[in-house]
Amino acid sequence: MSDPHRRGLLAAGGALMLAGCGRQAQASGAQASGEAYDPAPSAAPRSGPVPALCELAGFPIGTCMSTGLTEDPDWSALAVRQCSQVTAEWEMKMESILKDDGGFDFSRADGIAAYARERGLRLFGHTLVWYAQNPQALQRIDGNRAAFDNAVRNYILAVVGRYRGQAVGWDVVNEAVAEHGEGLRDCIYSRNLGQEDYMLLAFRYAREADPGAVLLINDYDLEKTPAKRAIFLKLVERLLKRGAPIGGIGTQSHFDIHLQPGAARTAMRELAGLGLQIHVSEADISLRGDRMDLRPRADKLKVQAARYRELMGAFLELPAHQRFAFTTWGLRDKDSWLRRPPNAGDGTDAPLPFDDQGRPKPAFWALADALKG
Ligand code: XIL
Repeated sequence: MSDPHRRGLLAAGGALMLAGCGRQAQASGAQASGEAYDPAPSAAPRSGPVPALCELAGFPIGTCMSTGLTEDPDWSALAVRQCSQVTAEWEMKMESILKDDGGFDFSRADGIAAYARERGLRLFGHTLVWYAQNPQALQRIDGNRAAFDNAVRNYILAVVGRYRGQAVGWDVVNEAVAEHGEGLRDCIYSRNLGQEDYMLLAFRYAREADPGAVLLINDYDLEKTPAKRAIFLKLVERLLKRGAPIGGIGTQSHFDIHLQPGAARTAMRELAGLGLQIHVSEADISLRGDRMDLRPRADKLKVQAARYRELMGAFLELPAHQRFAFTTWGLRDKDSWLRRPPNAGDGTDAPLPFDDQGRPKPAFWALADALKG
């Protein structure tokens, strides 16, 4: 952390954590005061004050967010009470920032940054180079390597530079490994800049833009698919050998209740083997898996809680200096991307620690109990 301002902010943040982790932790709303509600029939009843995960944890607890949610006082009270870090769900991606004419629109990203700053929350940047982002401005120069390289460099310098001193870290490269680990993804970035060179360049440009941010490579199914994890770790090793300033690994942790017990712990140990910081970057555990499951909802919620507990337990087993942050991809089930097309299914999924009303589920208590040891 070479940036004094950022260090100051984190120190301030530490003090704020004692009062619930965001400046307005004591804002209105019963959740803020930790009263327990009558749980939904499907949630195992637990009475007593609802603790703040970020106060229990000796490391940052995060959630994804969008500017739309900041207008919901119940969501904001819950987020500021439970979390010490936020990630933009989509408003710091190219799709939100890079306009078709190649210009930049930071209005939504600035909204996220301001929300975090005003509440003493850490800001985590997501994401700079992602195969799923094929903006017009880059498609127009597809095949012109020099122009493409220049455009990617300018984009990263502009975005990372803008939040320098506030963003504690960035997912520089997202989802570089092919779906089932059958190699690396082919994408507009790999075609124009080289299979691994696009990643090396992206890390160099991000480091150039902000010498103090922790730079991460992020991917999914690293627990469920050992072959993918192996390809991913080999890739990280090669990039490190080539001098890529990778400071951490992000494991998205989008699970479902059919994930093999023990898989999260096994993966965490292997991912930690390179000695880099680890970010559980987008955790959610779907009640819908890839197979028919007729168990009662209450049973599925218990299995979900067990997987959350395992994931947090595995994270807690990491050396403290490797615990970058533990982020869920939302807080309330109703805000989850798994409740929105194209992933909504029958609209009843409940992948997050809090239910639609913001009440703690067994999953939440599993996380709190794991943190309480
Ligand atoms: C998802 C968002 O949650 C959705 O709202 C959006 O429509 C698509 O992207 N991996 C990632 C995240 O790295 O950025 C994705 O977020 C989920 C999978």
